[in-house]
Amino acid sequence: MRITMIGAGYVGLVSGACFSDFGHEVVIVDTNEDRVKGLERGEIPIYEPGLDELVARNREEGRLSFTTSLAAAMPRSEAVFIAVGTPARRGDGFADLTYVYGAAEEIARTLSDPCIVVCKSTVPIGTNREVLRRIRAARPDATIDVASNPEFLREGSAIGDFKRPDRVVVGAESDRARDVMRKLYRPLSLNETPILFTGLETAELIKYAANAFLATKITFINEIADLCEAVGANVQEVARGIGLDRRIGPKFLHAGPGYGGSCFPKDTLALVHTARAAGAPTRIVETVVAVNEARKKAMAERIVEELGGSVAGKAIAVLGVTFKPNTDDMRDAPSLAILPALAAAGARIRAHDPEGMEEAAKLIGGVEWCDGPYHAAEGSDALVIITEWDAYRALDITRLRRLMQGTAFFDLRNIYKSAEVEACGFRHFGVGLGRPGGVAAVPDPAAAPRAGFG
Ligand code: NAD
Ligand code: UGA
Repeated sequence: MRITMIGAGYVGLVSGACFSDFGHEVVIVDTNEDRVKGLERGEIPIYEPGLDELVARNREEGRLSFTTSLAAAMPRSEAVFIAVGTPARRGDGFADLTYVYGAAEEIARTLSDPCIVVCKSTVPIGTNREVLRRIRAARPDATIDVASNPEFLREGSAIGDFKRPDRVVVGAESDRARDVMRKLYRPLSLNETPILFTGLETAELIKYAANAFLATKITFINEIADLCEAVGANVQEVARGIGLDRRIGPKFLHAGPGYGGSCFPKDTLALVHTARAAGAPTRIVETVVAVNEARKKAMAERIVEELGGSVAGKAIAVLGVTFKPNTDDMRDAPSLAILPALAAAGARIRAHDPEGMEEAAKLIGGVEWCDGPYHAAEGSDALVIITEWDAYRALDITRLRRLMQGTAFFDLRNIYKSAEVEACGFRHFGVGLGRPGGVAAVPDPAAAPRAGFG
């Protein structure tokens, strides 16, 4: 099949390259000329494991190409995907649909053959129907259908997620749209991946509900982590203990500094606004949004507290600034709340990240960017691991201790065991690692210990 993908970002580039790997002929269109020129030279604009090789192979085999011209890409396309950004609108938090409707307008201008418009961007309920209405109003002559095909890939494991998804969701209202989508995803149905056909609104809501549920699961375990610290329990063991119950499941139960990224923060907020506007508020999700925001901010306060109430003039080594490992994406990363707060409190920040430093330097000022974890540690009073990159999982703790001036080791992803770090002379502060026996069996509320780092 011949398809056009509008948007060469995380989703457009990965899904376009994967569709071409399935054997389809894919043209990816982006209005960002530098991005397209770079892609034509073989330069991948984002860090995503395996993407460079996948793009190179499919370009070589003639199934994948890039352009800035939608008009050039559209002829003979059986499907045109919209995979442009839907960021939170400044001021009110609703999803900003400027790019989606912009793409729809361009489709209406350039459309010649019968075609299915497929929205892969995460869009509020009613958007697909509005896209269809706008294109039909502009081009009453055209044979056109829409399909909502939300994407569930994660950054850092995007290719595997796209090629081996738990399910594919397609909202469509015509046999023609359903047939085209079935053909496009045929390689997956051969692997028995469930393809769930629904109405447009249902498909749109599935995407928001999935992200909100996962964000809720993380926020739940983060609150349990605080409780663990207060009562002397261990959150990793609690997570395992509840996760073994198949009704709960073990995934997305890692306590940390709060969820970040390009999607959970904006999608939970968009769902809250959509639900309020529809007169059916989602109070759980509203609380999740507020608790997560507060958590990211509280991380810096906790670090300052554990360092004796002041970090003025102290050097803090920070390892990992991206919102998760294996990406250079800094959107809504917890580090964006933690680093400026520590700097504002007078700390000198010496940070390292395997892939995110270039992007982070545009967003966070006054940081000394270092060549590696040991360089960052040199002369530091404290070390803070914010992102659990593999490169930080087997650090030489003795060497770190020798290089550092202070002994505080903040491990916001619980990568290390306290005993291992403390044997090297550090004080280990994980998340939710309460010390057994550290509190009375039934704490008197008046004397309850405050939640801090375990
Ligand atoms: P992105 O910002 O990385 O990329 C969007 C691209 O679209 C940019 O390169 C931009 O130049 C281009 N663009 C904008 N308007 C255009 C137009 N009219 N014509 C051509 N190109 C245009 O965004 P992303 O992270 O890929 O996200 C895209 C959508 O997918 C969002 O709705 C997001 O919520 C959703 N999503 C993202 C992920 C993820 O992991 N990033 C996962 C699932 C779903
Ligand atoms: C998330 C979803 O997992 C994808 O299914 C979805 O397609 C995507 O959003 C999207 O809509 O864009 P992503 O943001 O790439 O994917 O990464 P996740 O692995 O979900 O992590 C998101 C955040 O939650 C990160 O900050 C991560 O550190 C945090 N997290 C995740 C935890 O704190 N604990 C966990 O157990 C899991």
